[in-house]
Amino acid sequence: MDRKLMWVDKAWSDIFTKVKKTSKDISVDFPSMTSEGVYCNTHAPWAWVVGFWPGLLWLLYEKENYLPFKEIAIDRESKMDGPLDEYVNIHHDVGFMWQLTSIKQYELFDNHQSRIRALRAASHLASRFNINGRFITAWNKNDVSAADPKGLSIIDSMMNLPLLYWAAEQLDAPRFKLIAMAHADTVLKEFVREDGSVRHMVEFDYLNGDVISYYGGQGYNEDSAWSRGASWAIHGFALSYKYTGESRYLEAALRTANFFIDQLPEDSVPHWDFRAPLDENTPRDTSAAACAASGILLIAELVEDQDLKEHYFTAAVNILKGLNDKYATYGDDNEQGILTGGAFNCPKKLGVNCSLIYGDYYFVEAMSKLVDKIKERSTH
Ligand code: GLY
Repeated sequence: MDRKLMWVDKAWSDIFTKVKKTSKDISVDFPSMTSEGVYCNTHAPWAWVVGFWPGLLWLLYEKENYLPFKEIAIDRESKMDGPLDEYVNIHHDVGFMWQLTSIKQYELFDNHQSRIRALRAASHLASRFNINGRFITAWNKNDVSAADPKGLSIIDSMMNLPLLYWAAEQLDAPRFKLIAMAHADTVLKEFVREDGSVRHMVEFDYLNGDVISYYGGQGYNEDSAWSRGASWAIHGFALSYKYTGESRYLEAALRTANFFIDQLPEDSVPHWDFRAPLDENTPRDTSAAACAASGILLIAELVEDQDLKEHYFTAAVNILKGLNDKYATYGDDNEQGILTGGAFNCPKKLGVNCSLIYGDYYFVEAMSKLVDKIKERSTH
């Protein structure tokens, strides 16, 4: 076996053992972030994080066939029907919510109801498109206090676009794909900087589409480089390229990935913002590392040049090894999360140095890809 992957099988089995244990405690909750090692449950079934726990369980179920994971995932997905029916709390993060749950269940078991849920979520997302500004509106009135949400768009939306690409394929309805591409093009123009760093939030005039303002959002300031935002861009553009074949999206994925990789500290786990003041107490963000690593693995699949493939694959493996060696909690029964060292919102001092359910999800997603890679390499 490739020497740089020798740790992967054990890590995967450690993850499975850990989640078998924690799933008994977390069970049918919607975990979001830990406090003193225990996952807090979000009581809002419309919160952007609710798909990650069932999504993580599906990833493990796919390889391990452990029935309780399937049962919890199905239960969680059905609890998300409330916000879909009520509509008023639905925001742009429906991709995170229904891709990892309903689309997954539909793909695994051909579940008709799951397919309809995801199609309804896609229709909601399409309806958030601002035709004059050519962007997807992130939030609703009351979701944010800082600015008028009518013209607000955020980098995170890039991860929701696959829901639209999927709906376009399912219904043979290109309108969904055209909306996703129009949004991706606006992000490319207004969020991605020349050096490959990205902005978190851009406010547009919702009537004529002019840029009104840039905001630091969860990053250090409006000129900074929030590392999870960078990971949403890397992974999101790679996915847009996968679904459309448009080379400008691959170029954007490479540009943002190169910036991310170049800024990494020695252990390959980024600080929360690449431009925040740096000292030994500056928080890391393991969720940015995990999401970026999974996106960079996708890039390694998508590029054709063999040297580039190897370059991105190695960069992703280094990040995952850094997470595994320093932040994984496998043997620690006082921690419910798989990875410590996540940073939800440093400016607001919320969820810093804790486990984040999306960090855990993307770590498992990326590790699952590595397990597949080992199998693929051993059969060639
Ligand atoms: N989507 C919100 C965040 O990344 O924290």
